[in-house]
Amino acid sequence: MLNQRKLNIVPSYRVDNPSLDQEARKTAMRLREMGREDPLNFWAEMSREVDWFQSWKKVLDESNAPFYSWFVGGKLNVSYNCLDRHIAGWRRNKAALIFESERGESRVLTYQDLYREVNRLASGLLKLGVKREDVVTIYMPMIPEAVIAMLACSRIGVPHSVVFGGFSADALRNRLADACSRFVITADGGFRRGRAFSLKENVDRALRETSWAVEKVVVASNTGEAVSMREGRDLWFTDVLAQGELYCQPEMVDAEDPLFILYSSGTTGKPKGILHTTGGYLVGVHTTYKYTFDHREEDVYWCTADIGWITGHSYIVYGPLSNGATVLLYEGSPDYPAQDRFWSIIEKYQVSVFYTAPTAVRLFMKWGEKCPAAHDLSSLRLLGSVGEPINPEAWLWYYRHIGKERCPVMDTWWQTETGMFLITPLPGEESFVPGAAMHPFPGVEVDVLNERGEPVRGEQGYLVVKRPWPAMFRTLYHDPERYLNTYWKRYEGFYLAGDGAKKDEDGIIWVTGRIDDVINVSGHRIGTAEIESVLVEHEAVAEAAVIGKKHEIKGQAVAAFVTLKEGYNGTQELEEKLKGLVVSRIGALARPEEIFFSAELPKTRSGKIMRRLLRDIAEGNVLGDTTTLMDPQVVASIKEKYGSLAG
Ligand code: WT7
Repeated sequence: MLNQRKLNIVPSYRVDNPSLDQEARKTAMRLREMGREDPLNFWAEMSREVDWFQSWKKVLDESNAPFYSWFVGGKLNVSYNCLDRHIAGWRRNKAALIFESERGESRVLTYQDLYREVNRLASGLLKLGVKREDVVTIYMPMIPEAVIAMLACSRIGVPHSVVFGGFSADALRNRLADACSRFVITADGGFRRGRAFSLKENVDRALRETSWAVEKVVVASNTGEAVSMREGRDLWFTDVLAQGELYCQPEMVDAEDPLFILYSSGTTGKPKGILHTTGGYLVGVHTTYKYTFDHREEDVYWCTADIGWITGHSYIVYGPLSNGATVLLYEGSPDYPAQDRFWSIIEKYQVSVFYTAPTAVRLFMKWGEKCPAAHDLSSLRLLGSVGEPINPEAWLWYYRHIGKERCPVMDTWWQTETGMFLITPLPGEESFVPGAAMHPFPGVEVDVLNERGEPVRGEQGYLVVKRPWPAMFRTLYHDPERYLNTYWKRYEGFYLAGDGAKKDEDGIIWVTGRIDDVINVSGHRIGTAEIESVLVEHEAVAEAAVIGKKHEIKGQAVAAFVTLKEGYNGTQELEEKLKGLVVSRIGALARPEEIFFSAELPKTRSGKIMRRLLRDIAEGNVLGDTTTLMDPQVVASIKEKYGSLAG
């Protein structure tokens, strides 16, 4: 195996594109040329692939920047683009969704099947009284009903808010409350490593006392376990379908009408409601899916993300289905019933395009190359990666042991906010740089700037996007001020991504990771402030500082430094209680791996906790600059105590 350190010091280490063909090369060059020459015209051209009920008048309206409008005056419907236009032709009987449950059952929905279910649910929702000004919250496992629910909302022009099924009842409640959702679509539960877990119970708990009225809860049956159904409020998914008509007219919505809200962590305790609209979003995800994954009609495409994250929205549902792709949906864990589950699924369905996260690749590496080697993976032709920077060693392992040195690897950089890929190689690349997302997508312009706003080369700076792009979020729900302050204040006219990056001599872009108080655990974004505010809820806790500590598999793991109030001791029992509290308030993904009790926390003279130093301590690094500390002794004593515990 190649030594990662060695690779890192050779920044332009390249792997030739193993499947380069002249067509792909030409396409990449043509698109980049078009994007460079006239980005707006590029997106105008791309918008032709979407069916509009009424064509747009202007590509981009910047008059209210940074509240941009795309495809002004255009009218369309997303579910129409994902369904109706396919069933009008030969794709009617093509598989839209191939569903594999954790227990190994499969279910295939053709475009016609999906169309029927979406129409029925859309019509059923209208009959329940769902209105355009509503926000429908979707809290579901990875089952076809989740996709049906999203598309049904888009059909009637009602924005959805999908809440990841791994979030706790409290986290669900906060998101429901922020959106004032009157309607919830959920399931009895899901499966995880052979065991059923309940989602409906979490919904019931979240709705116990609400200051707004939740009118209907639609429950899909998945696990078949008993659930309590509240008379008048709770309905079965199948009953709502049965009430619905076979055809529900797609609502003609404006290009700038909201399509969905997706809550994501930021640097405060409160998640941000990231708002995406319709026309630009669809053009963006349609185009990036098509060209980055070199969409082919016969593909079986599998993205392992959960629909609760933006990856699931853009690259399980809207991008692929708008292209008429066949999408594989898998409900369960990669290691159930055995560690070769993913490879057996690829073999079973002859998956050709596979899109997963670096944390999963590192897990596969740990499980060993024998697992994939025991399966026929010859159907694969292209691989993708997303969620965090992929370390070159993981890239090469993925390339060799999964792609068998035949498949190009697309390392796609983007965010919940960006909606679509912004930095990614294309299949027409002559060579790839393992560990780098490489180039902006055609029509997108990015740069790396220093504190003063000057472009920097060869060293780390702030990643910015220099012009608007169609699938960009339009605002933060209820909070335009925060939208302005978080993303647009630092560099006039440029979008601040919150990531550090490096642009090397060859113009290759390396995204190095978050530079704010957001951490990335297994490709999931978690705000340190959210966890801190849960920890300080506990009566024993005076102060808490949460950091991301390097982790071999997860990329980062949650570590908390906590000071206690007088009279409390940092016992093992308290540590477990605090971990449990985080799980119940947020979800298992935010559970601290370790909690370190300390008498004090290092602070600047203005009283700001210096998390950077805590991270150095936790990772055993040489301590960074301590000159701005109020009391440098504090950090020295934490380091000593922490070191003695770890050692
Ligand atoms: C953050 C966005 C985009 C879908 C999944 C996460 C990190 C994501 C990459 C990549 C380097 C990456 C960034 C970004 N990130 N993909 N290919 N290379 N970093 O969505 O929760 O909005 O998180 O994930 O730090 O800011 P998200």
